[in-house]
Amino acid sequence: MTTSTVAGRRPLIAANWKMNLDHLQAIAFVQKLAWSLKDAKLDYGTVEVAIFPPFTDLRSVQTLIAADKLPLRFGAQDVSAHESGAYTGEIAASFLKALDCEYVIIGHSERRTLHDESDEEIATKVAAAIGHGLIPVLCVGETAEDLEKHGPSAVPVAQLKAALAAVKPGADIVVAYEPVWAIGSGQAATPAQAEQVAAQLRVTLSELLGADSAAATRILYGGSVKASNIAGFMREPNVDGALVGGASLDLTEFSSIVQFQKHVGT
Ligand code: 13P
Repeated sequence: MTTSTVAGRRPLIAANWKMNLDHLQAIAFVQKLAWSLKDAKLDYGTVEVAIFPPFTDLRSVQTLIAADKLPLRFGAQDVSAHESGAYTGEIAASFLKALDCEYVIIGHSERRTLHDESDEEIATKVAAAIGHGLIPVLCVGETAEDLEKHGPSAVPVAQLKAALAAVKPGADIVVAYEPVWAIGSGQAATPAQAEQVAAQLRVTLSELLGADSAAATRILYGGSVKASNIAGFMREPNVDGALVGGASLDLTEFSSIVQFQKHVGT
């Protein structure tokens, strides 16, 4: 049993596919993943598994999961801050809800840097998601430069405060701590580094939303997570799961990450 299970937080292993796998590839992947986890007799009561495919895959993933009654969750990788209207290319939270999305990733570092998303815009997206019954997976994390200048938790904590400024206690959210220097670099944070920031984020959640919400909120680690390093993160008391990028595109690897409980005790 992991420490987060003890604390009452069901671990969440999430696959952020980024801009990979079209809808046909998504169907094949999700089907094979479900089979692999069934073969392994995964107890979904002890871990939640969520897939974040590109927008164009969502309808196919929804249909497959519903038709085959697969115990997998899914969500989108971004959402518009706006309700509807003249916003070419954007996707409203209400549309995601209509596709049975449970989650939506907000504020991923690739959106912050490549699309200049500000803390204010991210806060508006978080509010839009919650307003439509979606659970935001809010990403925070520092660059290597931030780390050198401000230490490990200053930037993630500031991003968390800004994003949750208008969120009320009791709101269902997930926080993902993703140090930018660890994303796609093969250089994951150490479990101790992830725990240090996750603990600080939980203190901040407690200040912002109260102790009960802070205790109930799952904090994930993301950044070069692999089957070979997941157990170390999951042993930490404040790390409740992982947001997996590259390794989530490899079926065997991702299936093994989901089954982290098999290697946590080793
Ligand atoms: P990698 O696992 O490829 O480092 O990506 C992490 C990430 O950005 C997940 O959102």
